[in-house]
Amino acid sequence: MSLEKKIVVLSGAGISAESGIKTFRDGGGLWENHAIEDVATPEGFRRNPDLVYRFYEERRKQLLDPSIKPNAAHKALVALENACHENFLLITQNVDNLHERAGSKNIIHMHGELLKTYCQSCNFEPMEGATQLHFGISCPSCGTLNSMRPDVVWFGEIPKMMEEIEDAIQDVGIFIAVGTSGQVYPAASFVRWAKHAQPECRTIEVNLIPSSGASYFDEHCTGPASETLPKLVDVLLKS
Ligand code: OAD
Repeated sequence: MSLEKKIVVLSGAGISAESGIKTFRDGGGLWENHAIEDVATPEGFRRNPDLVYRFYEERRKQLLDPSIKPNAAHKALVALENACHENFLLITQNVDNLHERAGSKNIIHMHGELLKTYCQSCNFEPMEGATQLHFGISCPSCGTLNSMRPDVVWFGEIPKMMEEIEDAIQDVGIFIAVGTSGQVYPAASFVRWAKHAQPECRTIEVNLIPSSGASYFDEHCTGPASETLPKLVDVLLKS
């Protein structure tokens, strides 16, 4: 079957929580012991590249651990995409690769990707996963010292592919936000952009608990995403 309305899904850290990757803002989150301004800002990187390198290498090691695998929520989105074909876009704030590993294809990593790196000086992008970041590393292309960085969007930087995101939201029929706290902009605004562009658009929040932006959504699926999202997808596919 093929769903005719365009479906845009925004995912956040909560979708990967049950795969073993810690969220940002829940208890024991990723930033525990690290102030955001130290590890997720250009200023923090300039101040202490060694700390930032070690922080992201730890995250990369964790992601590559064989115990970290896509869960039923990631897989449910693949089933939805397979039914919708080009009428489906997944926008993720996550820097992990679990959506791709589950089989998602039409995906935008608006906050970048943990396994990718680039040179701040010449924009050289080595093959994914090819560069281990550590203090004293030089860009393999231009030779600049400590200019390689993780390809993640830090606070104060502009998220990726915003034009494509804005275009997709213009004609959205169903907008689903899964596992995101709604505290980081512009992603937190997408639900309002969707309603503004398409007042008839259905907006659905899938979260363990109602997020701080819950009131902007028409419908709520409350509970662990690995249980609630497959059920929601089943309902959408039968509708
Ligand atoms: P947060 O850590 O802010 O929020 C995670 C959300 O997931 C919370 O609302 C939880 O209630 C929910 N959650 C946790 N476990 C869940 C589960 N099993 N099922 C469903 N929901 C669950 O993460 P994000 O909203 O993704 O940005 O954070 C947004 C951005 O803030 C991140 O992309 C990152 C961070 O700073 C950058 O790195 C630029």
